[in-house]
Amino acid sequence: MHAPLYAINGASRSDDVSAPSVSARSKIIVLEVLSDDQMAALREHHDVVVLDASLAKTSPDTFNTTLMHELSNAHALIVSKVKMTEALLDAAPQLRVIASVSVGYDNYPLEALNARGILLCNTPDVLTETTADVGFLLIMASARRAVELSNLVRDGKWTQSIDEQYFGTDVHGKTLGMIGMGRIGAAIARRGALGFGMQVQYAMASPKPALEAELGARRVELDDLLASSDFVCVTVPLSSETRHLIGKRELEKMSPHAILINIARGPVIDEAALIDCLQRGGIRGAGLDVFEQEPLSSSSPLTRLPQVVALPHIGSATHDTRRAMAQRALDNTLLALEGEPPLSAVNEPHWTRKG
Ligand code: DGY
Repeated sequence: MHAPLYAINGASRSDDVSAPSVSARSKIIVLEVLSDDQMAALREHHDVVVLDASLAKTSPDTFNTTLMHELSNAHALIVSKVKMTEALLDAAPQLRVIASVSVGYDNYPLEALNARGILLCNTPDVLTETTADVGFLLIMASARRAVELSNLVRDGKWTQSIDEQYFGTDVHGKTLGMIGMGRIGAAIARRGALGFGMQVQYAMASPKPALEAELGARRVELDDLLASSDFVCVTVPLSSETRHLIGKRELEKMSPHAILINIARGPVIDEAALIDCLQRGGIRGAGLDVFEQEPLSSSSPLTRLPQVVALPHIGSATHDTRRAMAQRALDNTLLALEGEPPLSAVNEPHWTRKG
């Protein structure tokens, strides 16, 4: 049973589709689950329409029609899982701000937003450490084959002491190659260097001298990093430049003992090439929190390869962090609607520039 398609200012409204009148109050569409106190904070000053974003997958036509209808007089949108298309933006002539409950913004057509003067906000910082925890979880779990061996216990197949065929590989003291060294990359690198005595190297266009000093990290070319890292960890945002950054050629550069970790976005890795490489034993294993198509199809070989640890995109999925992300999106929305600079913005339309 789904919640009604939508609710306005708390009252469930599944058949009355007439829009509320907007005066000094702005109209905010919420496509995310916010807590009661967060909803109350929005409703205090604005008119709020809540739509159930899960219907975008189960009843896409109804969902799109309803969303377009609501967008026609909306000023703000709080969202993360619904891909924003130009058609949706065309249906939203009064839209001033989109507050994404995510740090990544590959779901949004940035040029089209800029052309329309729509502010896009995201939620960096508040999820950095939580997402880095998952990055390191994937490193540890892949290295020590935690899921595969836990399944052995669960399936009643632990009948004798574990021998060589199930041994893992050490993490401490190994070489950690970071592809991307932004906030989350740096937080993973810090865990590796300071917690596990790992040698950190990174591939990134711009050098990070402060991190090099803090962690003894070395900046190297991507090909060198691939060839000489025990763990290759992908943390770059998805863009036209990074789509399939890791493909057949790059995977072939990696050592057969190396493990590939992806906590960025699925399409940064050519998944077909990765599957082929894993099936041939080209690398030791992979720890993946993100996939080219999400949710990952149960028919994907990635769900069956024992040397793969696959998580359902949980980088930021803790109660504390998701609440903090929702709060950031809410604060960004309220500030922007008041004409104040938001806490974290991706772009800067002319009307947000002060002075
Ligand atoms: C993000 O914030 O971009 C995470 O991937 C959660 O969606």
